Amino acid sequence: MNSHLVVIGAPGSGKGTQASKLVSERLYNHISTGDLLRAEIKKQTDLGLKVSKIIESGQLVSDDIVMELLLQNCDLKNKAYIFDGFPRNVEQASMLSKQLLKNSPYVAVYFKIDQDLLISRIVNRRSCPNCGEIYNLISKLPSAPDRCDKCGHLGLTHRKDDHKDIVENRLEIFTKNIQPMLDYYQAIGKLSIIDASESEEKTFTSLLKII
Ligand code: AP5
Ligand code: MG
Repeated sequence: MNSHLVVIGAPGSGKGTQASKLVSERLYNHISTGDLLRAEIKKQTDLGLKVSKIIESGQLVSDDIVMELLLQNCDLKNKAYIFDGFPRNVEQASMLSKQLLKNSPYVAVYFKIDQDLLISRIVNRRSCPNCGEIYNLISKLPSAPDRCDKCGHLGLTHRKDDHKDIVENRLEIFTKNIQPMLDYYQAIGKLSIIDASESEEKTFTSLLKII
């Protein structure tokens, strides 16, 4: 079985895009806490109703809520996971290793990127509400307008937290939390860094070298 992969990176750095490629080309399971939370909102569960305003405003949901959601959705004994969007701070990094990963082998990969690229990537993102495939109005258009290449669904969506003012808020939170997280993984010898400013293909090649 592959080692688990903990992917850390700013909003728009390509975590979801690269995770999706790894799932289709290698034996990994992708777990994105953002996707799990959005699924709760879509189903209008109690949790979804509780977190929807927090997510729409670009704030972080509480560590305990997200950790609980992660524990409910992982089967670490039988599968190798890509953790996308968790951890977001050093407290979550510690929770992940103590409560979930424990002695399982894993590597943490930081998607380092020039911040100037992020806002344009995010405001131009569109995704398929049916299968989750990610597109971009500049760098990755679907073959037919508004139709998902992967599942054929018509009508790609724009996330509510992908508007410029909210994105700036999300980036500010990321900037505040990133260094302590990197220090945490560096100190335990688990940190690798890749250049995520490159094209999807080049970034994927860098990622493959690490795993
Ligand atoms: P989440 O869904 O995790 O969002 P995020 O971390 O802000 O990251 P994104 O999904 O925006 O970006 P990405 O890195 O996946 O980029 P993508 O591949 O799509 O979290 C959303 C919210 O949920 C949070 O704000 C918070 O409220 C809550 N939440 C989630 N986890 C939490 C946690 N652990 N604790 C507390 N709260 C939590 O790519 C972006 C765009 O760029 C796409 O259009 C893509 O096509 C394009 N692109 C990708 N790679 C390239 C490339 N190499 N070149 C050109 N374009 C590219
Ligand atoms: Mg994502």
